[in-house]
Amino acid sequence: MIIAVDGPAASGKGTLAQGLARHYGLPHLDTGLLYRAVGVAVEAFEDKAEFEAEAVKAARKLDAAHLVDLDTLTSARAGTLASKVAVIADVRKALFDFQRNFATQRGGAVLDGRDIGTKICPDADVKLFIQADSKARMERRARQFESKGQVVDRYALYHQIEERDARDMLNPNGGFYKSDDAHLLDTTQLSIEAALRAAIAIVDEAM
Ligand code: C5P
Repeated sequence: MIIAVDGPAASGKGTLAQGLARHYGLPHLDTGLLYRAVGVAVEAFEDKAEFEAEAVKAARKLDAAHLVDLDTLTSARAGTLASKVAVIADVRKALFDFQRNFATQRGGAVLDGRDIGTKICPDADVKLFIQADSKARMERRARQFESKGQVVDRYALYHQIEERDARDMLNPNGGFYKSDDAHLLDTTQLSIEAALRAAIAIVDEAM
């Protein structure tokens, strides 16, 4: 069983994907981490002409060992860098096989990201598209950072999320839309537990 979970930054898709993976006993891949790892690897080239070429090289060399430093990878800065490398077609191409293999070589999986239902696993058994309004998403991300002891500037965070959404939505190589066969789940008003119950109900119904 392949479950595709897509949605914008801080929509709750990662937490839901993890919960679904636990519930159904499936492996889980947070595909945003791949783009974050590539972005972090080429941070030094951010405003340089070599940025694109270096990002493609980093994407081709990426392996699971690059995905372990979660403190760095889950930072807001890494999210911004990720969305900058995510517009590069050859970066997306280089990361395709990693994601596709994860989905198909283990007898099922839950993948979350932006283009799982549209490009990586268009054949997924169930597709969920998670959304939540920008203020709710900012507040969730702020609390996540605060729970790690970080001081959060909510105004700046809100703008970072909006800026990332805009870059993602305009990404010509993206595929960041809800496909017709995806189930929409709006988590704005839902607790984590309620959102997970709703997601499980959708998956059970679809199987
Ligand atoms: O999901 P997360 O917020 O960690 O993703 C970070 C960035 O990586 C996104 O803003 C997007 O630009 C990129 N991304 C992508 N395709 C995916 C997952 C993430 O382009 N499947």
